[in-house]
Amino acid sequence: MRKVLVATEKPFAAVAVKGIKEVVEAAGYELQLLEKYTEKSQLLSAVADADALIVRSDIVDAEVLAAAKNLKIVVRAGAGYDNLDLTAATANGVCAMNTPGQNANAVAELAMGFMVYAARNTFNGTSGFELKGKKLGIQGFGNIGRIVARLAKAFGMDIYVHDLFAPDLDTAAQGCTVVSDVKELYRNCNFISVHIPATAETKNSIGRELVGSMPSKAVLINTARKEVINEAELIALMQERGDLKYITDVAPATAEEFAKFEGRYFASPKKMGAQTAEANINAGIAAAKQIVAFFEEGCERFRLNK
Ligand code: 3PG
Repeated sequence: MRKVLVATEKPFAAVAVKGIKEVVEAAGYELQLLEKYTEKSQLLSAVADADALIVRSDIVDAEVLAAAKNLKIVVRAGAGYDNLDLTAATANGVCAMNTPGQNANAVAELAMGFMVYAARNTFNGTSGFELKGKKLGIQGFGNIGRIVARLAKAFGMDIYVHDLFAPDLDTAAQGCTVVSDVKELYRNCNFISVHIPATAETKNSIGRELVGSMPSKAVLINTARKEVINEAELIALMQERGDLKYITDVAPATAEEFAKFEGRYFASPKKMGAQTAEANINAGIAAAKQIVAFFEEGCERFRLNK
């Protein structure tokens, strides 16, 4: 009997686990659950006899893949797959997938919430400002960026978008102003919402030059990855400019340095963008279905590695 391991350091909602179990068992497979593990060794031993693996931001590196002797497929239940070593997956004959779009709405809603939180002075009771009429720059126009645009339109924001990987954006960008130069995006916008993956090209790319060009009382919202921020430059900039705010769902590596910017900085204690029952159900069940389709039909849609 095939064994599907769900290994989540940050667990799915119980209702999502129930749905995953139903899909897995309907296919005649067995579900094994490893939640809230604290040591990598726990993952290494749990994965030893798994045929398939479902993870979230859990690190699946060469060591994990080497320990997973029976593994044929790993699915990252989510969008960003910087936690998967794709080269090692290929070397071990493992198909790696993600579930793009399945948790996008949850992340987009959180980005909007963060904007309100910043505009209303972290809910401290003092007079803030409104999103209506403000310029929002959406950096990265994939599944999440597009939903943010739709939601921000309802707030009456003036929307600008930039996408490094698709500079000629399609009709979905209608109603937004497409900006081909990211510098222009930052220079023009009161708010920037970051929705880019962490890649060699994007890591450390958001720092003094971009954020420093933003208008007075600018707000940087990051629900993407901490690695895309040049933290040292942002700290120096926030020291110089007392008007800047940084609200992030992905706590910086140097969080204690940022903590001194009281009222201008907030980081979620644990990444919570995709942490809704709906997103967990969508991404978790999609992952389970992709695994069944892979084994039963040889379906490799959403395969990430060559
Ligand atoms: C993603 O890439 O899908 C999001 O960052 C969500 O990550 P999580 O599953 O660890 O919450």
